[in-house]
Amino acid sequence: MKFTPSFLGCFNPSTPKFIEETDYGYVKEEEEVGVTNVPHPNFRVFSYNELRVATQGFKNKIGEGGFGTVYKGRLIGDRFIAVKVVSVEVESMRGEREFISEIAALSDIKHDNLVTLKGCCVDGAQRLLVYDYMENNSLAQTFLGTEQKRARFSWELRKGVALGVARGLWYLHEQVNPHIIHRDIKASNILVDADFTPKLADFGLAKLFTDNVSYISTRVAGTLGYLSPEYAYSGHLTRKSDVYSFGVLLLEIVSGRQVVEYHFQHGEQFLVDKAWELYNAKSLLMMVDSQLNGDFPEEEAIRFLRVGLLCVQEIARLRPAMSAALKMLKGEMSTEDVDISQPGLVSDLMEVKIRRRVSSNFTSSPASSSNSSFQAR
Ligand SMILES: Nc1ncnc2c1ncn2[C@@H]1O[C@H](COP(=O)(O)OP(=O)(O)OP(=O)(O)O)[C@@H](O)[C@H]1O
Ligand SMILES: [Mg+2]
Repeated sequence: MKFTPSFLGCFNPSTPKFIEETDYGYVKEEEEVGVTNVPHPNFRVFSYNELRVATQGFKNKIGEGGFGTVYKGRLIGDRFIAVKVVSVEVESMRGEREFISEIAALSDIKHDNLVTLKGCCVDGAQRLLVYDYMENNSLAQTFLGTEQKRARFSWELRKGVALGVARGLWYLHEQVNPHIIHRDIKASNILVDADFTPKLADFGLAKLFTDNVSYISTRVAGTLGYLSPEYAYSGHLTRKSDVYSFGVLLLEIVSGRQVVEYHFQHGEQFLVDKAWELYNAKSLLMMVDSQLNGDFPEEEAIRFLRVGLLCVQEIARLRPAMSAALKMLKGEMSTEDVDISQPGLVSDLMEVKIRRRVSSNFTSSPASSSNSSFQAR
């Protein structure tokens, strides 16, 4: 099926409104991104055949996630691309028209720390997304895991990655109008280019699917440690949910530890619990990755860890907005005079399912739920 340019930019789906508590964030929740009535110069609708040729028949698989499989390809006379073949049931997917106009709108959002979305393809029930290819894959692949991988990441590199991710998220939250909540900040969604510039992937994707799929319930397992309690338990979604996930990621970058690790003796250990424990024991420096061999500025590392802990606080309104988090990371705002309270943690998938069911019996919409009564532990 062919699409003409007149198809684009004419659809304006209504989006829910969310109100965010603003004590420490000074940002008001408005509508999330919708489709504007302007042309989208960076956007293309590809034919299936074009992408089949570009990927040599979907031969070179890069990875697989909750929504589909990603393949490496190359457009004729152009740079490398990554093609995500979305594998979600048709009934969970937005219609063709809505899908294309959402992608077109997302392709306008450009920043050094965001992956460029070049276009999409709709072929019958199939949906494909086309991105710039990132040579160094994701943080989950290149950084986390083995000691050798972590040793490649000096403090300066880690600092650059953390600041880049913070800038990308700050841009989505506070520079794009209407703002975008990423919803899925995690190591595998931070891609890294040839120069080790971090790029946020998959922003805005949740809107391509109907609520059943975009909501965490179907794919929560892989992201458990990154989920803010209020979002996990009631679907109450604000920018502060992204801030929570960013905090977890920041702790990962500094410590080199994964969000949840399994110890033969102690069982599951969650990163935020470990950080909180060491913070209370006044031993926060012990969080820093041993692979750095002590080669890092202590004051800066402590500052990064404090920002991480501030971002994962259980009470959403106590978490900083991304602009504040960025200033603190850069040392332009002090973290010393800010109290840090206990982190929230979602550690049990079953608990999420039960509480979601209870919550949906009491609230008619996510926006009407309150986050003040959560017992996250
Ligand atoms: N533009 C890209 N360039 C290079 N590698 C990519 C690109 N996009 C995705 N990848 C790789 O493909 C993998 C799968 O991506 P995908 O987004 O489908 O899954 P995920 O990020 O692991 O989980 P989720 O579905 O929750 O986003 C990623 O982990 C990453 O390693
Ligand atoms: Mg992804």
